[in-house]
Amino acid sequence: MRLDAGAKNAADLELEFAWFAQVVDARFKRYFGPPADALQHAGTDPLGIAAPSLSGARSDFAKLLRRHRATPLERLALVLALLPHCKPQLLDIFHTRNQTFDRQFTEFGGQRDAAGDFTPTGQTLAFLVAGAALAPRFALQSLFEREHWFATERLLHLAPPEPTPSLQKGALAGVLACVLALSGEGLALCTTGRAPRPNLGLDFPARPLTTALQWSDLVLHPGTLAQVQDILVWVRHGATLMDGWGMRPKLRPGHRALFYGPPGTGKTMTAALLGKVTGREVYQVDLSLVVSKYIGETEKNLARVFDQAQHKGWILFFDEADALFGKRSETKDAHDRYANQEVSFLLQRIETFDGIAILASNQRENIDAAFARRFEAIIYFPVPSAEQRLQLWRQSLPGQARLADDVDLSDIAQRFELCGGAILNAVRQVCLGALDDASHCITRDALQRAIARELDKEGREA
Ligand SMILES: Nc1ncnc2c1ncn2[C@@H]1O[C@H](COP(=O)(O)OP(=O)(O)OP(=O)(O)O)[C@@H](O)[C@H]1O
Ligand SMILES: [Mg+2]
Repeated sequence: MRLDAGAKNAADLELEFAWFAQVVDARFKRYFGPPADALQHAGTDPLGIAAPSLSGARSDFAKLLRRHRATPLERLALVLALLPHCKPQLLDIFHTRNQTFDRQFTEFGGQRDAAGDFTPTGQTLAFLVAGAALAPRFALQSLFEREHWFATERLLHLAPPEPTPSLQKGALAGVLACVLALSGEGLALCTTGRAPRPNLGLDFPARPLTTALQWSDLVLHPGTLAQVQDILVWVRHGATLMDGWGMRPKLRPGHRALFYGPPGTGKTMTAALLGKVTGREVYQVDLSLVVSKYIGETEKNLARVFDQAQHKGWILFFDEADALFGKRSETKDAHDRYANQEVSFLLQRIETFDGIAILASNQRENIDAAFARRFEAIIYFPVPSAEQRLQLWRQSLPGQARLADDVDLSDIAQRFELCGGAILNAVRQVCLGALDDASHCITRDALQRAIARELDKEGREA
């Protein structure tokens, strides 16, 4: 997968770099060539050279540009930041010396390190887009404002040159003097593919949730499945609805769903699969850590979870949501008081969260009603029907195991009301038995014993 993403990016970057080389060539000809030549030469306006159309391209790099309708100026800035990492030789032309003054051209900007390598600065970009003209330079500043996608996607920022000049420069001068610095995530996204998972540290109360299972492994009640699929519809069209169709002022941002139902009915699995099929990371927020261990630090940590999730399009999964979203208790001691503060903070953050938040609980009644009203979906995960149980048995048993003649799976599915999780546990047990006695055969007795054990765990009788 990763190689594939890298190969797609490489192909599109080659096109982008080739365009960049043409722009540089045109700029140099226009800047240094005789004026008459510049006028005759069609296409010497560097910004008149069309950037490659990436409309059909599938690389992460192309998707990023499309998502933000990147302008040529933005694309040049990105290329300049990428080149030192990807193709520094394309920057060699900026080593050209000014013969008149026997020094480097001030107009190229850039930072040269001890090894002579050239790192583009804002001035390099200004030279490319504007030559010596002033007005187009002013547009550069807007690329590095806090609201710009370079910043919100945490891709590209301006790093002060080394050593930092003691002189206090004005805003534009600051932009021109600073190095175009790509973040590690930005570099990964544009080159090897998806951004690596950030290293969030031990105190970060969220962990990635993944699954090796496939969507086709999911066995759900049709009503449950339909509601789960509504989340996919939101992923596909939410942005268009909110922005394209102008509903943002009227609707709450994001999408919140409560998954509730008995243990082992596939709530966690569904959340993980939603991430897998939409290509999003799912982060499981560990609420027990949040309430008990991080009193005081909690809000800060949770704020980090939400900030990261919002930027990166993560799905947030709050397992055992009752721990925090349960009915608010009367304040009894200091611990309770903190817990309630955290609840209020969480409620507020979840309500304003502009992404997908999934909360899971075993009982709907455990969730504060005031809070439940704010969910876009409340989805029940029931115990599977006999027919679904048969399907779960069939797909859980490995092909290597043989079923003894006396085993009637549909009878077993009919008689025992087990959820997917319990069926899997029983399968695990009988398979280990079949391996251990080298028979590789699962008997009816062994199955019944394993089922009895599962029922016993739930306090039921076979
Ligand atoms: N509906 C289902 N379809 C297919 N497999 C299932 C289903 N439900 C459970 N399983 C199997 O059981 C395992 C455990 O289920 P899962 O952890 O998703 O249950 P859960 O509803 O989150 O339980 P809990 O309430 O205890 O957290 C899954 O990883 C999967 O292998
Ligand atoms: Mg679960």
